Amino acid sequence: MRAAWANIHLDALAHNLAVLKQHAGGARILAILKANAYGHGLARIASELHGVDAIGVARLNEALALRNAGIVKPIVLLEGFFSADELPIFAASGLQPVIHSQYQLAQLEQAQGLAQPLRVWLKVDTGMHRLGVAPDQAVACYRRLQACANVQGEPILMSHFASADAPDAAQNNNQNRVLADIQRQLAAPVSFSNSAALLAKVAQHDDWFRPGLALYGVSPFAQHTGADYNLRAVMSLQASVISVRDVAAGEGVGYGAAWQTERDTKVGIIAIGYGDGYPRLAPAGTPVWINGRCYPLKGRVSMDMLSVDLGVDSQVQVGDTAQLWGEHLAVELIAEKVGTIAYELLCNVAHRVALEYN
Ligand SMILES: Cc1ncc(COP(=O)(O)O)c(C=O)c1O
Repeated sequence: MRAAWANIHLDALAHNLAVLKQHAGGARILAILKANAYGHGLARIASELHGVDAIGVARLNEALALRNAGIVKPIVLLEGFFSADELPIFAASGLQPVIHSQYQLAQLEQAQGLAQPLRVWLKVDTGMHRLGVAPDQAVACYRRLQACANVQGEPILMSHFASADAPDAAQNNNQNRVLADIQRQLAAPVSFSNSAALLAKVAQHDDWFRPGLALYGVSPFAQHTGADYNLRAVMSLQASVISVRDVAAGEGVGYGAAWQTERDTKVGIIAIGYGDGYPRLAPAGTPVWINGRCYPLKGRVSMDMLSVDLGVDSQVQVGDTAQLWGEHLAVELIAEKVGTIAYELLCNVAHRVALEYN
């Protein structure tokens, strides 16, 4: 009997990519694989994504892990380099930094002896106010990159929506307007859209789309699941039922006796807990799928286990497989119950949870 594992459905991944490519028309895809490919396993997911044009990560160690795994596709670092001493590594490994701040531009201009010039992306702050150069400096920064000997080819102009998951938000129009104004002054390729913006067609134009979440079959929009967009869940998080016990009415179950049984019942103990990335704050009633139906989580989630109320007539047995989220139980629903977003649940799947690809 296994404890906790995650099935990673590669056919669903391929399906989702095909769906997103249809949305993208002929534009290119920069697939976002940061945070261990949203918990799905960085190198393996990268090696399956033959159909994408480039891979985006957040950290240098993620990029180098991909190169070490033999991934030769272009790799974009969404936050660029953090200090100038990383630049020789970018050059040696053919990594593409996003330049989001003046300090990076200056360091790139001053770098000497790089093994090769870098392809770069220039991020403009069109209104999210997280990263990006100010709009009124964008054209000048772009021209400096074009003139920089350490830069190869045309820089790609990039921005990020703050509210793409609310497609009607006025902020989207404002951000579109700011980028369009810059585009009028530069004949530059553009990348604006994440999953939500791609699915809801929020941007006016993209040469490069940047989907993350939707690739994994998950909806970026509240109150929806991936299925609403013809996407299929890539991850199924599963664990074994390791104990089924009869508990009389009025007994306390688990830490702090936080669950007091309302009636005689059977309690199923499942070998997954917050040490595996299942959220400790999942409230009573959060569904757990076993053998075709959902049972309510009850009591406190432990590090390695959680308990469900099976009901007195349950046929669930030791050795049965429970699904915490996946093809039968949308991770979006679990996230809503917990009061978080599916991104966080997926990223938090712990290292000790074996990823099984099929
Ligand atoms: C700059 C940037 N682009 C694209 C994405 C992908 O976003 P999503 O997973 O919502 O598609 C992210 C993820 O947060 C990001 O930070």
